[in-house]
Order: sequence, then C-alpha cells, then structure tokens
Amino acid sequence: MNKPIGIFDSGIGGLTVAKAIAEALPNETIIYFGDTAHLPYGDKSKESITMYSKRITGFLLAKGCKAIVIACNTASAHAYADLKKFYPKVPIINVIDPTVEYCLGKYKKGKIGVIATRGTIKSRIYPRKLLKANSKLEVPQTATPLLAPMIEEGFFNNKISKTIINSYLSTKNFEKIDALILACTHYPLIKKEVIAFFKRPVEVIDSASVVADYTKKTLKDLGLLSKKKEGKDLFYISDYTESFEETSKLFFGDVIDLKEERIWD
Ligand code: DGL
Repeated sequence: MNKPIGIFDSGIGGLTVAKAIAEALPNETIIYFGDTAHLPYGDKSKESITMYSKRITGFLLAKGCKAIVIACNTASAHAYADLKKFYPKVPIINVIDPTVEYCLGKYKKGKIGVIATRGTIKSRIYPRKLLKANSKLEVPQTATPLLAPMIEEGFFNNKISKTIINSYLSTKNFEKIDALILACTHYPLIKKEVIAFFKRPVEVIDSASVVADYTKKTLKDLGLLSKKKEGKDLFYISDYTESFEETSKLFFGDVIDLKEERIWD
C-alpha cells in the first residue's frame, strides 16, 4: 500500500530509527514528527506523554500514514497500550518489544544492563519483560537523564559527552555486564563512546535496526508494504530548533523537507 509510515519521538532520537527504516524499506515514504516543543519526554508524566502521543498519532494519520512507529522508549513505555486502545485499527509499533525479543533470542543467561530516561527506568518495563520471559537473566538499570538533552544539543563525540557518559557508566550496577541496552533512541548517537568506555567485550545494543526489521515484518504480514517510493520524506517539528535541523541533515542529507508544525496551538 503506497502510503507513508508515521514515525515520532520527542526530538532527533527517533531519526536513528527512521534512518534504519529508510534503509531496510527503500520503497517506503516516511513522515517524521519530532515533538521538540515538549522535549525532553524523559521526566514528563505518563498522562502528559500519552496526551502528546495521541495528538501526534492523530496528526500523522491525518497525513495519510498507514502505520505508526513510536520511535521513543519513554513514549513506548508510557503510551503504547493507550495508543493501541485509542486507535485499534492502526498498526502501531513500539521500540521496546522488538529489542526485548532480540535480547531473549541471544541471551539465555547473563547480565543485561539498561540505560534510559528516568521515565523508562521508573516504568521498569525492560526488567519486567525480560525477567518474566527468562528469570535466569539479571537486568540492572540506571537512569541517565542528562544524555538525551545533551545529544539533542549536538553534544556527542566530544570531551563533555565523554565525561558525562563515563560518569554514568562507572556505576557498580554495571560491573560484569554482558550487554547494555541503549534504551533511548537518542543514544545510538553516542554508541561509539559507550563502546569505548568498556575495556572488555560488552555488546552495546541499540534498537534502530531491530525495530526496522520488525517494522518490515509487520507491514509484510499485513500486506501493507509499498511497491515503489512515491513522494518525498517529510519532517515536522513542533518547535523549530537549529540543532534538529543540523542533526536531521546528518542522517538524511542536505535536502530534507523540514517544517515547523505547531500542532499544540
Ligand atoms: N528518545 C527518547 C526515548 O527513547 C526520549 C528522550 C527524551 O525526550 O527524554 O526515550
């Protein structure tokens, strides 16, 4: 079905997922929404995030989207169940389930750490899902609330980001971990720095390609794959920021079609 896929996040983080989807599904058109007016989502209440997510999903559906990808862990943790109830006929994909599925397939025992926003960590959604399926795992987690705003501001691969990342990861929680889930879609932008922190092999897992594969499978199973890319990808933000424009170019090149859409006014 030649209709676009709607993807949203609080800001640039979901672009890591959008990019992976664009690579895995070259025939698909993307409409992206970055809710920069409400960034960061990490410390907002479940009620607020659910309200934002419903409004953004409504906007993307009005633009003709055939499926929605919640390219944000915090919104996936807080709003996925409500969104599915609110839009029962729309295929809605979250970033958490495909990542959990990947981990369960790969790790039968061992210690899988999680870093994420306060909202995702407080929801305990990763330890709950992983331990329910496999009680032999250990799932220590640490909130890293400075990271998403830092990345959104364009601070990565520099001295400041290195200091902050090292300070968060030095926690005793993560001693002897086998893997670390980057449970925030902003974090693939600091993946190299996280890998560099560990002086031994630790698998650093980001959800972008796992979610892209899952999206492909879901659309295929539902007979919703497009035959041919029609039209341009579109990018909306609820409040213009230079850093969004810069980072979106990093992922999608210089010619992206970026519009400010004040859907809250
Ligand atoms: N990228 C988001 C996530 O995966 C949200 C970051 C934020 O806005 O705090 O949780």
